[in-house]
Amino acid sequence: MKIMVIGGGGREHAIIKAIRKNPDVEIIYALPGNGGIARDAQIVPIAATALPEIVAFAQEKQIDYAVVAPDDPLVLGLVDELTAVGIPCFGPEKKAAIIEGSKVFAKDLMKRYGIPTAAYETFTDLESALHYVEDCPIPVVIKADGLALGKGVIIAETREAAQTAVRQMMSDHVFGKSGDSVVIEEFLEGPEVSVLSFTDGNVVVPMISSMDHKRALDGDQGLNTGGMGTIAPNPYFTPEVSERCMQEIFLPTIRAMNEEGRTFRGCLYFGLMITAKGPKVIEYNCRFGDPETQVVLPLLESDLLSVMMKVTAGTLQPDDVRFSHDSACCVVMASQGYPVKYEKGFPITMPDDDLIFVAGAKKNEAGELVTSGGRVLGVTATAPTLPEAIRAAYAKTEKVHFANAFMRSDIGKRALAAISREE
Ligand code: AMP
Ligand code: GLY
Repeated sequence: MKIMVIGGGGREHAIIKAIRKNPDVEIIYALPGNGGIARDAQIVPIAATALPEIVAFAQEKQIDYAVVAPDDPLVLGLVDELTAVGIPCFGPEKKAAIIEGSKVFAKDLMKRYGIPTAAYETFTDLESALHYVEDCPIPVVIKADGLALGKGVIIAETREAAQTAVRQMMSDHVFGKSGDSVVIEEFLEGPEVSVLSFTDGNVVVPMISSMDHKRALDGDQGLNTGGMGTIAPNPYFTPEVSERCMQEIFLPTIRAMNEEGRTFRGCLYFGLMITAKGPKVIEYNCRFGDPETQVVLPLLESDLLSVMMKVTAGTLQPDDVRFSHDSACCVVMASQGYPVKYEKGFPITMPDDDLIFVAGAKKNEAGELVTSGGRVLGVTATAPTLPEAIRAAYAKTEKVHFANAFMRSDIGKRALAAISREE
């Protein structure tokens, strides 16, 4: 089989490494991939959002199956376009990807179908939004409606900060059209859990739970990033919480999307907060999370490609998806200064290891792998217990070298504290 994977980060590297295990795979093309992915797939310099070029490439190479990993091409409708020319794809159609593409859509869906989430109001006009934040409870959370590279969420600790955020989104258009509508919502508290799931619209099969570490610095300080590390499983996702989520969130969401004529087939990501009043949805993503995928897929025992193809065919069964009982930890090695300003182009030396996922690196003219992005590598280890997985991941980072490398030193610390409280 000839496979095409759209995207070029650490998540896509993890997906490609898992797909490669299927013996029927002859070749994997990565569009655009990256210099590290080039070890595992043939990289093709076509951007993930260049829809006509991707479709033409897929037809020329007679691709048998495509995986669309990032949010932008999904929201733009790449799956619809590939399907229209007869290429089966993993990923939701455009009308289902809206669950991530529009926060207003997602919030209204949850309200209509009684799915627990933070209370909210939506606004399309600046004056009404400003009026609302004059006397709403503080802190308050302000979200741009559309995709904003993960940056469209502001947690305002003061009324002035809330007003500034509303003005920046709705009047200064700092997130472009994404800020034409905003959601203003209740600030929730509690541990966060990421649950990726496979769904074909009939059944929903949660993958092993995970925990992201979004802030740049130790102790959850500093700016929000794409994610500085992950662990799995997430100790806050107990069997009781899991059962509640299935009944109150996962199944109702799948049914709601069917009801709306927007059947979701692909990976639906539930960003959850476990509040004192039970689990609530913070966000939906229409795709695998990054860097959650870098801890989830290494623990998947089933064949990823077969599971994906069953999702596309609508024949998924819960037994198709099996996970190991081990734990995993992924430490992101970033460029010093990320997520703001950082230098690139430093040579990387690292061991040949199937669990080091390359996110921001390219080959230079001399053929060396050099840094090319903020998040450079996701260094993952698995082990029978979480403390061992964390130790092993950090031990592995010591064998990786590039100038200006930066990482958090406390990935998994909160999870370990939660486990020791339980014991
Ligand atoms: P999102 O892009 O929607 O995942 O939001 C980014 C981060 O902001 C989340 O991972 C949470 O840590 C935080 N966040 C979003 N919504 C809320 C909320 N209603 N209450 C508290 N924190 C939130
Ligand atoms: N790690 C969060 C996300 O992929 O959106």
